[in-house]
Amino acid sequence: MRIHTHIYLIGLMGAGKTTVGRRLARLLSRPFIDTDQALEKRTGVSVSHIFEIEGEHGFREREANLLAEVSRAPGGGGRGAVIATGGGIVLRESNRHLMRRGLVIYLRAPLELLCERLQGCQTRPLLSAPDPQSKIAQLLEERGPLYTAEAHLIVDVGGGPAARTAGRIYDLLQRDERVKNRQH
Ligand code: S3P
Repeated sequence: MRIHTHIYLIGLMGAGKTTVGRRLARLLSRPFIDTDQALEKRTGVSVSHIFEIEGEHGFREREANLLAEVSRAPGGGGRGAVIATGGGIVLRESNRHLMRRGLVIYLRAPLELLCERLQGCQTRPLLSAPDPQSKIAQLLEERGPLYTAEAHLIVDVGGGPAARTAGRIYDLLQRDERVKNRQH
């Protein structure tokens, strides 16, 4: 397993990429990067504001540039960072191509959980649709196959705490390391 490179967390909004990623990074003693937060820090405005001013296309351009930048940087003393991505990162082939060089983990959450977690959310511009639940269902249908196809590892997220999910991923990665060490 290519665990000495960046670890990318992918999945729909509400799956817990940021919270799980932060905890996983701590467990692995690696730096943590959240692409949305990094963009907000860099621009000084919220993701919603970027959507408002530049549209989704403008946001995707910025997101792709940022991903390319953080993917190039070694990070973590050469061991790579844990990178929580925005839910739409898989839409561009160039992004998928970059992430494939690392380890891609899909945090897969059922529709009901996503709807529950995202209820009343004001910070995700794509959910300012008249019927946010149908929008989430539509996004899951469109992107689910992409997440699945890109993932080296799929982790099912129940309603449990992020710490438990991060712990499960950590254990899986350790096991894989042991397998790798035996083989070489
Ligand atoms: C988006 C997900 C958001 C953010 C933006 C667009 C998407 O990130 O990048 O609102 O297209 O699914 P999270 O998945 O972290 O919420």
